[in-house]
Amino acid sequence: MSAIAAVLVVAIVVTLVVLSPKGSGPVSTPTASPTPSSTPTPTPTPTPTPTPTPTLDPGAASIDDPSSYWVVVNKRRPLNPVDYYPPDLRTPQVPYGAFDQRAEVATAVEQMFAAFLAETGQEMESISGFRSYDSQVGTYQGWVNSLGQEQADLVSARPGYSEHQTGLAIDIGSVPAVCSLEECFSETAQAQWGAANAYRFGFILRYPADKTAITGYAFEPWHFRFVGVELATDMHNRGITTLEEYFGLPAAPTY
Ligand code: DAL
Ligand code: ZN
Repeated sequence: MSAIAAVLVVAIVVTLVVLSPKGSGPVSTPTASPTPSSTPTPTPTPTPTPTPTPTLDPGAASIDDPSSYWVVVNKRRPLNPVDYYPPDLRTPQVPYGAFDQRAEVATAVEQMFAAFLAETGQEMESISGFRSYDSQVGTYQGWVNSLGQEQADLVSARPGYSEHQTGLAIDIGSVPAVCSLEECFSETAQAQWGAANAYRFGFILRYPADKTAITGYAFEPWHFRFVGVELATDMHNRGITTLEEYFGLPAAPTY
């Protein structure tokens, strides 16, 4: 090799070393590791889990504790203690009716009445809410006096067995009043909207027309029971209409 050729070789080698990338720059930057196939890597999606019955954690709330929003009170399940008195009663601020409820229920009542007005232009009324053990003594006895005990037991709970004593139940009426506490109330806008929408506010229609053999009570299109939005929505979505069926409890047609 001539001297000139040797110099050229050295120059080329030096140039290549100087220009060679040092861990950065387009040459050394790893391209976004292409996958062998041309399809993009799919985003992992969670595998849906099967729906158990009930879907809600039964440990999250008690069906026995009268202060639980999930408490199940029926002819086989009296309140315990029988003279239970709710801890946080307040009167919902609604245009029609002034019956106490548990505080969270009162808020739900206010929201439900406001939504009914906004969506239909009509008002509904609270015609009953919390009733104490002593108050239910008079209510039940009044029905026994007018109907006899057998018929009274179809429409009124004995003291210590009423959902009204929990502060979680409300009886609604129409404005102006039509068919109050009568089966024909089911034909009113208030009853029909309530049956379709009450779950949005955490209520269920507790005594459906076709469930007397399970609940022990005649159809009460006015009686709604607060169970919280999560449970009410789950019951609505799955078409389960009684707490007895939802929680797998025995039917309670009689005491
Ligand atoms: N009317 C319902 C059943 C009650 O008395 O609680
Ligand atoms: Zn009622």
